[in-house]
Amino acid sequence: MNRHARFSLLLGLSALVAVAVFGFSPEKLSAQSAGDVTFAADVAPILQASCQECHNPEGVGPMSLLTYEEVRPWAPMIREKVSTREMPPWHVDKNVGIQQFKNDVSLSDGEIEKIVQWVDSGAPLGNPADLPPPLEWPSGEDWRLESLLGRPPDLIVPSTSFDVVANGLDQWHTPVVEIEGLDGPRWVLANETKPSYPLGRRVTHHANSSVLRVVDGEEQRAGFSNFGIGKPYDIYPLNTGMMVQPGDQLSWNIHYYPIGQEVIGEVAEVGLWFYPEDEPPQFATAGDQSFGSYRSDDQEMVIPPNSRQITQGIHVLQQNARIHSFRVHEHLIGTGQSLEAVYPDGRVEILGKAGWHPSWHITYLYEDHVAPLLPKGTVLIITAWYDNTENNPWNPDPNTWVVHGRRTGDEMSHMWIGISYFDDGQFEYLVAERERVLEELGIATAGEEDGG
Ligand code: HEC
Repeated sequence: MNRHARFSLLLGLSALVAVAVFGFSPEKLSAQSAGDVTFAADVAPILQASCQECHNPEGVGPMSLLTYEEVRPWAPMIREKVSTREMPPWHVDKNVGIQQFKNDVSLSDGEIEKIVQWVDSGAPLGNPADLPPPLEWPSGEDWRLESLLGRPPDLIVPSTSFDVVANGLDQWHTPVVEIEGLDGPRWVLANETKPSYPLGRRVTHHANSSVLRVVDGEEQRAGFSNFGIGKPYDIYPLNTGMMVQPGDQLSWNIHYYPIGQEVIGEVAEVGLWFYPEDEPPQFATAGDQSFGSYRSDDQEMVIPPNSRQITQGIHVLQQNARIHSFRVHEHLIGTGQSLEAVYPDGRVEILGKAGWHPSWHITYLYEDHVAPLLPKGTVLIITAWYDNTENNPWNPDPNTWVVHGRRTGDEMSHMWIGISYFDDGQFEYLVAERERVLEELGIATAGEEDGG
């Protein structure tokens, strides 16, 4: 224990003693400290941890939130956005489903409470000596995974270049490019997508890619990388990877929107991080696969004016599987989706549920120890909600019928699921391994919970 920690422990103990001796109730203590919530001591650390990554002068957020002077005018708006959980962007329903994610950026109830108290008490600065030292924010030129994985990408695959017009309609760019620079098969551990900086980042609405491979004359496609606001990278679960080999191609699907300034020669790049050549992972992932949330294109997806609707897609898994991530995709009328499993033994479990906001494409990456393990025969039910009323702020016209289609004004609804498939031997191994890990972490397994 260092001196500082020992000192805080002493302070903590003396507070306890004060409670014991003078009979202060904990409620009184917290009510008393409510007025003392300050920017310097309480709010700045929260903004550093959860907001500044985007809200810095070069980030994707519309304003910088680094200093008290920058934050103060936004205080009421910040109060609103954090208490409705619109910010930070994390739209998982906290009341149902698995809640452990690798990329969770949400605030705790206590943090939200602190921000609300701070704004309600006049948003004071407090003692400037309490301010945490400012953080350095990486520029949009850097790979974000570089700091997480400790090295730059092992291979960079660029798209072909594209000229984005200054004004006009959205543009699509769908080149297919060779993955160059591979001597043999390599296993991808993680990937990240990066448009050019700064202009490319501003014009790129999304940039996704799939790996294309021709096997026995047949084209195979695996969902690979995604870039949308809030979603630059993917990390596969431990010991799991996606294999790429010479001859494979990346098939891009890039959506640009004009920003009033021409952007010439825009190129997006995907950075690949590999497993060591002599230590390939045990398991292969199928990548991101699309699961529909309605029965067929023309059936069901007809949403009358001024109405709400629900559709469901039902998928029976033909193989044992593990889901490591999910991402909601809808257009303007959809408001969210849930993912539910009905196991072969009849047990029903909601795996996740998230709201949909058209400007955010967030992939929710499960922590490895909770990534659902689903025996073959498990039924996945994807439920989607739609709001074609004026209460939906994104709805362009609540008085029209909405049908299924690709155009932005039509509706679409599917869930992108990061999934891997296993034979029975592999699956048994993974189930046993999971039980071992949960025991090690001191977490009861699903079976035991059921009994209790
Ligand atoms: C992943 C990036 C990201 C993070 C993290 C993030 N924001 Fe934002 N924020 C945005 C973007 C982009 C917008 C504008 C688009 C939108 O509202 O969805 C925005 C909008 C806002 C707005 C509304 C501004 C306006 O003019 O309407 C507020 C207030 C805000 N953020 C505060 C916060 C706070 C406070 C946090 C942390 C607790 C935070 N944000 C975390 C990216 C982010």
